[in-house]
Amino acid sequence: MTGDGAAPALEVRGLTAGYGGMAVVHDVTLSVGHGEIVGLLGRNGAGKTTTLMAIAGFLGKHEGEVRVDGTPLRGPAHKRSRGRVGILLEGRSVFPSLTTRQNLDLASVDPDVATEMFPELKPKLRLRAGVLSGGEQQMLALARTVGRHPSAILIDELSFGLAPTVCERLLSRLRSVAESTGAGILLVEQGVHYAAGVADRVLIMNEGLIRAEMPGAELIAREEEIERIYLGGLDDAA
Ligand SMILES: Nc1ncnc2c1ncn2[C@@H]1O[C@H](COP(=O)(O)OP(=O)(O)O)[C@@H](O)[C@H]1O
Ligand SMILES: [Mg+2]
Repeated sequence: MTGDGAAPALEVRGLTAGYGGMAVVHDVTLSVGHGEIVGLLGRNGAGKTTTLMAIAGFLGKHEGEVRVDGTPLRGPAHKRSRGRVGILLEGRSVFPSLTTRQNLDLASVDPDVATEMFPELKPKLRLRAGVLSGGEQQMLALARTVGRHPSAILIDELSFGLAPTVCERLLSRLRSVAESTGAGILLVEQGVHYAAGVADRVLIMNEGLIRAEMPGAELIAREEEIERIYLGGLDDAA
């Protein structure tokens, strides 16, 4: 909650969703304030990606309510609100054979806006996206999402497959994006460390349910315990 009476950037209530009529995530309730970064953690298969896709409306009919800036994503205001949610799914969401500039053009994102956000992209505008480094491709993908000025941004495993230093840089950039645009960011991460470092708050998901919530700083202090109870793959082989 933003705490000042204004509607949060993203508000999800009682969201139950899944595939082919089978629910995978249950009764998810969360909110992300403007300029806030909320981490969503959980082991493989916990339901993190499903949660993001359901929030974005990709999974068809589901139970629950999603509001962006206080406006429901379904119903009459649905079409207007859809563009207020940006989603960056796993993997590099760029077209490798198109140039960086063409990738931005296709997303209707002004290259000046993108390079202001990520100056690293400036000398790469005329290069094919496929020859950019993994980190630069991820910046381009982020710019494509963020440059459309969504109120809520959903990001799945930004750090996947990237070197630690590159991840740190991307995540600190995410912090500036949240601050400068006022967007609320829901960030799925597997790495406790990355999430703890960038998120104001973290939610811990296990078997499709949100089991715990704590400030990012607390996650660092309780890292070992959280890893063991919710995230580890070794102690829960039952
Ligand atoms: N397209 C799909 N069809 C059916 N089941 C799926 C599909 N995608 C994911 N699942 C199942 O939903 C559960 C949660 O998956 P997912 O949301 O991808 O977890 P996470 O992102 O936390 O690793 C898993 O049991 C997975 O097998
Ligand atoms: Mg996933």
